[in-house]
Amino acid sequence: MDLSIPKRIEELREALHRHNYRYYVLDDPEISDAEYDRLMLELIKLETDYPELSSPDSPSLRVGAPPLEKFETVEHSLPMLSLENGFNDSDIMEFDRRIKRNLNIDGEIVYTAEPKLDGVAVELVYESGRLITASTRGDGFSGELITSNVKTIRSVPLRLHNEKENTIPSLLEVRGEVFIAKEAFKSLNNERLAENLPAFANPRNAAAGSLRQLDSKITAKRPLEIFFYGVGRVAGLVLESHWETLNALQKFGFRINPHIRPKITVEKAIECYRELSEKRHLLPYDIDGMVIKVDSLSFQRRLGATSRSPRWAIAYKFKAIQETTRIVNIDVQVGRTGTLTPVAHLVPVKVGGVTVSRATLHNEDEIKRKDIKIGDTVLVQRAGDVIPEVVKVITSKRTGEEKTFEMPTSCPVCNASVVRSEKEVALRCVNTACPAQVKERIKHFASKGAFDIDGLGDKLIDQLVDKDLLFSYADIFRLTKETLKNLERMGSKSATNIIRAIEDSRKISLNRFIYALGIRHVGEHVAGVLANALKGLDKLMCATPDELEAIEGVGPVVAESIAGFFRQNENRKIVNDMIAGGIQILRDVDQKAGVLAGKVFVLTGTLETLTRDDAKNAIERAGGKVTGSVSRNTDYLVAGASPGSKLKRAEELGVAIIDEKTLKRLMIGD
Ligand code: IVH
Repeated sequence: MDLSIPKRIEELREALHRHNYRYYVLDDPEISDAEYDRLMLELIKLETDYPELSSPDSPSLRVGAPPLEKFETVEHSLPMLSLENGFNDSDIMEFDRRIKRNLNIDGEIVYTAEPKLDGVAVELVYESGRLITASTRGDGFSGELITSNVKTIRSVPLRLHNEKENTIPSLLEVRGEVFIAKEAFKSLNNERLAENLPAFANPRNAAAGSLRQLDSKITAKRPLEIFFYGVGRVAGLVLESHWETLNALQKFGFRINPHIRPKITVEKAIECYRELSEKRHLLPYDIDGMVIKVDSLSFQRRLGATSRSPRWAIAYKFKAIQETTRIVNIDVQVGRTGTLTPVAHLVPVKVGGVTVSRATLHNEDEIKRKDIKIGDTVLVQRAGDVIPEVVKVITSKRTGEEKTFEMPTSCPVCNASVVRSEKEVALRCVNTACPAQVKERIKHFASKGAFDIDGLGDKLIDQLVDKDLLFSYADIFRLTKETLKNLERMGSKSATNIIRAIEDSRKISLNRFIYALGIRHVGEHVAGVLANALKGLDKLMCATPDELEAIEGVGPVVAESIAGFFRQNENRKIVNDMIAGGIQILRDVDQKAGVLAGKVFVLTGTLETLTRDDAKNAIERAGGKVTGSVSRNTDYLVAGASPGSKLKRAEELGVAIIDEKTLKRLMIGD
């Protein structure tokens, strides 16, 4: 064999390990996805040609290994225990008192608090820095060996990352939670429905199902992610606190949750719990509580565990997200693409701290399957998502007075006919000019992930469409201050602000523009994939389904949906009108790729070195957004000297308050 081959294979493996780490752990890629794919293909080809050079930690295993007949079981060398649950502040205070009593300590105990991820627990074993096995929690004592499946999770290091100062432990058992993010879950379910496969009930089931595939090539296609939160046995590494452990894990290349609050008192932990429970719906993945852990490892050892759970940790669970209530009525809403969705009107009930008075019933088949009637007492839940849904009917509460619901035979908004296409469960209004469709399309267009037009909210859009002032996207850019001022409840100042926000949105990145068009099956993620692959709108507009399908991450259903969208002259005209009207599409600025993507900042006071404008520009370049006032949507208040009232407001709302130094650290993804 040519001796340069093993060398090249090793080079490729090294490079792919490094790029994975940069992409998934540091969130700071050095090369494009296409280059990454080229390196991977080259490696796979060489390994296929020279099977004797294969290796169990090769990055090529990210795409899956040959299928298994069944899973082996393995014993965990230290049991994977459960956590004790707490449901209110006094449970937590009692936990703290018990710890002090057990340790015989009067002073404050130092805790580290972290989100409790709602996924699937796994254990990974590394020997001399190489991933050897991965297993599920199972019954806590032994679990299933799912090594090949875990290797497909891109953010899992196959070799420990080793910077000079790091020595690699001879043995490291790490534990973490595998999950699927909310958006990815939705796309996964949409894809499954499009292929007539049953949808997963929630992201956790989807993650568990994906990890339990005997064919890891299937797992490789699922959007699994992982955060690591602890260790089992460790040899060759001395650790003193939980926070130090997490930092060490991060240095080795493990992904750590960014919302961990290290080294706090029990009172502060309770405060953090409140902040987290307000913010949980904004997080991209499901969490079901906050875990509070004694930080010192020697204290942890002294406290020990019961047969079920360690004495040094407690899960402070969020309020129940399921409640019972009654369906008063059912009406039908018409969505962006004309889909008719039955919606239940409920006797208002608090679910997880939020009052719920409506819940989606999805479609006619779901109503039949769950046997839902008007007047029924039902269990409702807010899944990780914002739209509540009816879980099931409590049939024992039936009185006989309940009424069956029938879907309408024409559109309840515009009276046009409705159709049900063969492959779909939903009824659809055929009239694209249906005011309900127009409203929803424009709301989507102006929304956060799309044109993000501040002030152009749902109520205003409803009014503008009802008054025939808005038919198409292009009309938004023709609105004037005078038109807006004449609307109900609109002051001159608000009108000016909205017009300014519309002007500011004229420059937009390609991925946001594509997402804004509201093409079926094209969510934020797919829009990003398309923007990166095609680089220009003109290419997208004339791509054939085959060309689209050739893009990694675009399946046949999505490809056909996009090509079908642009086959319609009406849609091409809408796009051309916007471009003619002065929309400027920025080719390569991909806002989502920024380290601060999706984060909202407010600036106050005098910063140390940056002017306000500099700080604003820097945040925006990193993909973040700067707004003028603190609200529940604010992620960070950057406070300098003499901060003023915004600081107080941020404190009241539990918004994270940071200084310039921390801002700079966030901007480099630290
Ligand atoms: S620590 C000894 N930290 O919760 C128990 N667990 O009910 C150590 N979980 O099976 C667990 N997020 O799957 C810990 N930040 C976190 C967690 C977490 C989720 C899960 C884990 C465990 C279950 C315990």
